Amino acid sequence: MALFKDMLNSGESLFVNEIALDYDFIPKVVPYRETQQRYLAACIKPLLNQRNGRNVIMLGPPGVGKTVACKHVLQELEETTDDVILVYINCWQKNTTYKVVIAMCDILGYKFTQNKKTEELFEIVKNMLNKKSTVFVFDEIDKAEDYDFLYSLLEEIYRKSIFLITNYKSWIDEMDERIRSRLLPDILEFKPYNAIETKGILQERAGYAFPPNAFEPAAFDFLAKKTFEVGDIRAGLHLLRESGLIAEDSSSKKITLEHAQKACSKLQTFSAKDTEELDEDSKKILELIRGNSGKKIGDLFKIYQELGGQLVYKSFQRRVNKLDENKFIKTEKLVGGAEGNTTILKIAIDKKLTEFD
Ligand SMILES: Nc1ncnc2c1ncn2[C@@H]1O[C@H](COP(=O)(O)OP(=O)(O)OP(=O)(O)O)[C@@H](O)[C@H]1O
Ligand SMILES: [Mg+2]
Repeated sequence: MALFKDMLNSGESLFVNEIALDYDFIPKVVPYRETQQRYLAACIKPLLNQRNGRNVIMLGPPGVGKTVACKHVLQELEETTDDVILVYINCWQKNTTYKVVIAMCDILGYKFTQNKKTEELFEIVKNMLNKKSTVFVFDEIDKAEDYDFLYSLLEEIYRKSIFLITNYKSWIDEMDERIRSRLLPDILEFKPYNAIETKGILQERAGYAFPPNAFEPAAFDFLAKKTFEVGDIRAGLHLLRESGLIAEDSSSKKITLEHAQKACSKLQTFSAKDTEELDEDSKKILELIRGNSGKKIGDLFKIYQELGGQLVYKSFQRRVNKLDENKFIKTEKLVGGAEGNTTILKIAIDKKLTEFD
């Protein structure tokens, strides 16, 4: 069999720098987020004059540049000064106070953590941090299982800015009073990009990853449009890579509309976040909505109960809101009507990417 005969000449690839399509690649510029970056910089600025900084909650749906904008600001700060310590921690991975404190030890280069309790380690971290100023970023803060670390930092670190990143407005609303009253955060909102911005970002990324003119214009426009519809730049990066691979597979030196369409159709259920990241209750509710797309929330709750669901309505509703904020589902509010206001729940993304115009 000549399995590889027809493929691009050996070693030849459509990509020049595939890494640029990785989700955690930090591009040199983060366009369309200048306002937010300037705002974050202004919150940090007092730290450069030995004063206290401001705290911010960065709020927005998945894939709209919260993490990348924040990391970019930190990178610039790091290039500018040695006087400020940078602590970036993702609470998805470090979801307890102990893990957060260990991560801080790691960042500060403190190695003797074995057999020490959380309090002991915190004292060490505190003494190190209080010699300078610190910017803390806790990304995906809603994933933390306890917030003692936040409380302790607020109480015991003198000069700091704390940035918290979340997808959920509900997390802010439900924040512990003790923390809220000490944090006094400004809210910095990240809204989804418009169609032109989405295309601009993808063009820039494609510019790093592919040689010039790798895409037929119609193919690129198609992918940009689909990405805009999903509202998550990650979907676009995924599609750029997939269509590149599909083009390579067919030994084509250009990525055509057909390749782009095929990349989209392969994505049956691109969700902004992997469903594996959902808790068990949310997974069940998502499955229920999948099977009953278009029903009212009250009716779905009844079905949920009939199937043995244990959550009370309020908790059910909260899960539904989170599924919505994370774009697993779409909600439509109906105002008025015989039963007063209600919400219709629909499964969100399955269709969007696969439906062609
Ligand atoms: N303005 C932008 N310029 C360049 N790349 C961007 C921009 N916005 C987003 N991206 C890219 O899109 C991807 C997703 O962005 P990012 O990780 O910042 O999303 P997020 O808002 O933090 O989402 P989540 O809430 O899911 O964590 C990243 O690869 C990022 O580099
Ligand atoms: Mg993020």
